[in-house]
Amino acid sequence: MKQIDVETLRRWLEDGSPVTVLDIRSPEDRAQWFIPGSIHVNAYAALKAGAPDALSGIALPMDRPVVTICNAGKVSQVAAEQLLERGVQAVPLAGGMKSWSLAWNTAGIAQGNAAVVQVRRTGKGCLSYIIASQSEAAVLDPSLDPAVYLALANERGWAIRHVLDTHVHADHLSRSRALAEAAGAVLFLPAQNRVRFPFTPIDDGQTIEFGASSIRAIAAPGHTMESTCYYLDGRALFTGDTLFISGVGRPDLHASPDEAAERTRVLYRSLRRLLGLPADTLVFPGHASQPIPFDRKPICERLGAISTHIGSWLHSEKEFVAAILDRIPPTPPNYVRIVELNESGQTPEGDLTDLEAGANRCAVS
Ligand SMILES: [Fe+2]
Repeated sequence: MKQIDVETLRRWLEDGSPVTVLDIRSPEDRAQWFIPGSIHVNAYAALKAGAPDALSGIALPMDRPVVTICNAGKVSQVAAEQLLERGVQAVPLAGGMKSWSLAWNTAGIAQGNAAVVQVRRTGKGCLSYIIASQSEAAVLDPSLDPAVYLALANERGWAIRHVLDTHVHADHLSRSRALAEAAGAVLFLPAQNRVRFPFTPIDDGQTIEFGASSIRAIAAPGHTMESTCYYLDGRALFTGDTLFISGVGRPDLHASPDEAAERTRVLYRSLRRLLGLPADTLVFPGHASQPIPFDRKPICERLGAISTHIGSWLHSEKEFVAAILDRIPPTPPNYVRIVELNESGQTPEGDLTDLEAGANRCAVS
């Protein structure tokens, strides 16, 4: 049976092509994550049991493709068969939501001398950035195939000169090393002794210049001890997993309870320092908490607006530590293995979707 691949559906959604996405999974699976804008019908069990009328109650457009979605791309084929019999232009998504893990979209925004392209892994919510000034670009926290960043830069006539990570990631495999190699760019990582491959360390206060812009490193330990934010031209702050729009980075991964408490105290001081920057600073975080729509709207917020919410958590260090440690979410799946790979710099062969499965759990909100 004819199927469509993730790249085709991704492109249709990004281009605004007429398409209906029909999610046939159980409500429990849908609650984990979903494709923004998709219609949901709880038909998985009925389709699997071979019920011929599992989708009979649903009105669907006849003038556009209807892409059926399940977990791994099997039951969605049964759904498409039933719909094809009704004359609907149904086609299943190959690999289902598992393959959708690598789907992405973009949103662009100008920042003074620089142009920022936010590259979003829509399912996992990982946010990476291409920042360009006068045709020279820096890429922050790449979480997708290096070819994606190379193509996006190339389309715009930009050369990638620098690749930076904000910290050693625990929820996705860093593509920084591979991208820097492919682009012939300098790989900057926060100064630390965790990573065991060559990189250029960047310390608090150091700047990286490109075009007419510069990025200044601001050490922000807490989520991890090497966590660093990058301050673009004194107007935009790329916060990695330290500060989100409505939460802060979890300080407990790879830490004993005592270490987690100490890291939370360190995070408190880092956040106080960051919230002292001008209120009109635009914050670009490292994650979104929900699947990201194909709406071309950047996920960012003024520091002043974030402060009105998060600032109220920071009245006292003691209360902050107690409140954060009380709200730590479950650990992200496979994080031990992902950290190991990010420290060794190896990229495993083949399919990474199992390794990176599941939503981000880097935030306390
Ligand atoms: Fe993280």
